[in-house]
Amino acid sequence: MPDRRETRPSEDAQPQAAAAPVIRVETLQAHYGERQVLHDVDLTVLPGEIMVIMGGSGSGKSTLLRHLVGLTRPTAGRVELLGLDITRARAMEMMRLRRKLGVAFQGGALFSSMTVLENVMLPLQEHTQLDRKTMEIMARLKLEVVNLAEAEAMMPAELSGGMLKRAAVARAIVMDPALLFFDEPSAGLDPVVSAALDDLILKLRDAMNMTIVVVTHELESAFKIADRITVLDQGRILMVDDVEAVRRSDNERIQNLLNRRSEDKEVDAQSYLRRLTGEADAPGQPKEDAGAT
Ligand SMILES: Nc1ncnc2c1ncn2[C@@H]1O[C@H](COP(=O)(O)OP(=O)(O)OP(=O)(O)O)[C@@H](O)[C@H]1O
Ligand SMILES: [Mg+2]
Repeated sequence: MPDRRETRPSEDAQPQAAAAPVIRVETLQAHYGERQVLHDVDLTVLPGEIMVIMGGSGSGKSTLLRHLVGLTRPTAGRVELLGLDITRARAMEMMRLRRKLGVAFQGGALFSSMTVLENVMLPLQEHTQLDRKTMEIMARLKLEVVNLAEAEAMMPAELSGGMLKRAAVARAIVMDPALLFFDEPSAGLDPVVSAALDDLILKLRDAMNMTIVVVTHELESAFKIADRITVLDQGRILMVDDVEAVRRSDNERIQNLLNRRSEDKEVDAQSYLRRLTGEADAPGQPKEDAGAT
């Protein structure tokens, strides 16, 4: 008998089909001191999709991501992850949930005193009772996924910018999370490395069935990987839709955002050139992306 209930979100032309959201955000508000930086944000993310969050600098993307993973408590509203309301969850429930989340944040550097392998093993040490050999094997497997197996014994200072990002990804996926969050995975990277990271993100969705939320400035990358795009503007959601709809949107603020990107690219190209000529920040430093604080 055929199983009629089988659903395959990544092959389904309409992601809105029955699947229950794995992330549900309702009227979320966030403040820093007196200043409100998120205004009534509503958002759902479906299983197996890549949701890209776009928006100008300071529009609240990183703040939203911090709320999505429960690093910061909202001033009002709800965030539900995998069915758990994290604005009300107890510490034990949060701990259990955290094992299912992978996080690679903006500028989220590795620990400089540990090798790449040790860095990738950290979540296993924190969340499991596995013996060291098993942890090493699991960490190695993930280093292979990000194509970094040969760097396991290296120290972070010996890695290039792209390698650092990939090591951070390996650490984020070492627990096989159901949900993965990236803040600016390709900021500060050259186009080739950046494209490789995009491919990796697609691979994580397709081969490992992860649901992925990516914050990015890079239009090209957003259009390549997104199933849907959320456009943030000054702490408000302007639009949530698929790539084509965002591209075609006649909303003036969205068009401004899309067009402003080309100016950003020129700036990036210049800083890239400066780096090549050794005039600017050395490659390989995790915080080299000064334009994307
Ligand atoms: N720790 C903080 N304390 C006070 N204000 C903050 C803090 N973090 C961010 N903000 C402010 O909140 C607003 C949103 O910041 P956020 O970092 O979320 O923006 P973003 O969209 O991620 O920007 P970028 O693209 O530059 O990374 C900004 O105006 C910023 O100045
Ligand atoms: Mg940010």
